[in-house]
Amino acid sequence: MIQKQKGCTDIYGKEAKIWKFVDSVIDAAMEKYNYTYIRTPIIEATELFHRGIGSTTDIVTKETYDFVDRGGRNITLRPEGTAGVVRSFIENKMYGDSSLPVKVYYNGTMYRYERPQSGRDRELTQFGMEILGSDDPLCDAEIISLAVNIYKMLGLKEIKVNINSLGDDGSRKKYREELIKYFKPHIDELCEDCKERLEKNPLRILDCKVDADKDILKKAPKTLDFLNDESRDRFEKVQDYLDVLEIKYEINPNIVRGLDYYNHTVFEIEAKVDGFGSNNVLGGGGRYNGLCKQLGGPDTPCIGFASGIGRLVKALELENVKLPIVEDIDLFLLYVNEEEKKYAAYLCQELRLAGFIVETEYNERTLKAQFKQADRLNAKYIAVLNSEDLNNNEIRIKNNKTKEEEIISLDVLIYYLDEKLNTNEFEDEEDIYEEHECSGNHDCGGHCHCHHHEEEL
Ligand code: HAM
Repeated sequence: MIQKQKGCTDIYGKEAKIWKFVDSVIDAAMEKYNYTYIRTPIIEATELFHRGIGSTTDIVTKETYDFVDRGGRNITLRPEGTAGVVRSFIENKMYGDSSLPVKVYYNGTMYRYERPQSGRDRELTQFGMEILGSDDPLCDAEIISLAVNIYKMLGLKEIKVNINSLGDDGSRKKYREELIKYFKPHIDELCEDCKERLEKNPLRILDCKVDADKDILKKAPKTLDFLNDESRDRFEKVQDYLDVLEIKYEINPNIVRGLDYYNHTVFEIEAKVDGFGSNNVLGGGGRYNGLCKQLGGPDTPCIGFASGIGRLVKALELENVKLPIVEDIDLFLLYVNEEEKKYAAYLCQELRLAGFIVETEYNERTLKAQFKQADRLNAKYIAVLNSEDLNNNEIRIKNNKTKEEEIISLDVLIYYLDEKLNTNEFEDEEDIYEEHECSGNHDCGGHCHCHHHEEEL
């Protein structure tokens, strides 16, 4: 049997419904915040990520899926969305638009060759948003609050926002030098990865999971001590705006982020629910004012955020959030012969186009097995088609919960279902439909609970 690749997931059944619901909440929130959807390719030139994310980062050194295509081009499956968005912004000259900033969002698969474990996939789905073309600290607060609000709209409660500032390039450079100076005498106390990071990417040592509890990390110099006045003022403004938006946050100096393009505000949002394990960061982001220029575009300040949907769905499950997922169907149409089957096919189409969720039989099951199938699909109503009724322009339709059956004119079927399904007033309503009794001559195994069968039981 051919199996899926390590670190990849098949999403189907109820879980797929949850994913689609999450997508719909994201789309709705983005619309209200006026972010437009952007869809960039999954394959990009390898160079984009080397220049964009940074050639010394873990992602680029160890985790990208690289290949040479048939035309000899070096191609990489995107490990994240930001670099592609910025490439597209430059290539499509979106900066020429006088309506800066450009606010975009995306939702798609990314690829990282990581050691597969819970919360770390090789094919992961991220939604994310970017504001390109504004340095206003209000944008930083908007991006953080939008992320938090999407989590809240979905029903998550146990989340924590950690923010930090890396300052501008000058502050960051000074801090980097200071970190190397600080860690060098203690290099033997660091894990193998961090030993390598020291010269190449010392900021990454601070969020190393292996060394996290060591004193040497806890006592390391903090980014905030190296901010110049301008960067500090900027960070305070971001906090002011977050306070205005009533977004709770903590300043966490260990948030440095794993990609090289960040400066000023960086942040991560953690799930605080039990059972998550170590990969509990739902999403992260920050400002990347230098990236656009670095990729050959105009100097354009930007900020963004991305969140793994797999981790988000796991958080919803662990918090037991009840989601409005449709797990039932409105009507199941049962039939026995070919003539009834054709009518079932016709009615299915009519009712589906009228907005109802309708199913019928596709596997030539017996009527008894069709009743079971209707139950498996949680049909709210069922209708056993029979040629005689149909010739009389009638249909017998039954509430699959109360087992009450009525025979009604086919002409009023849509109105009937609409009234029954959209009002929930099943009892004591004016009966505008014909009184009906089941003839008792079908092979339902007593399932239909008509009075004939109830007498038999
Ligand atoms: P990131 O922190 O690398 O940032 O990824 C963001 C989120 O994607 C993570 O917090 C996590 O939820 C999810 N994620 C990352 N790797 C994996 C994985 N292997 N398996 C499952 N989920 C994963 C970025 O990607 C930046 N582009 C965010 C950004 C946007 N910064 C500015 N704009």
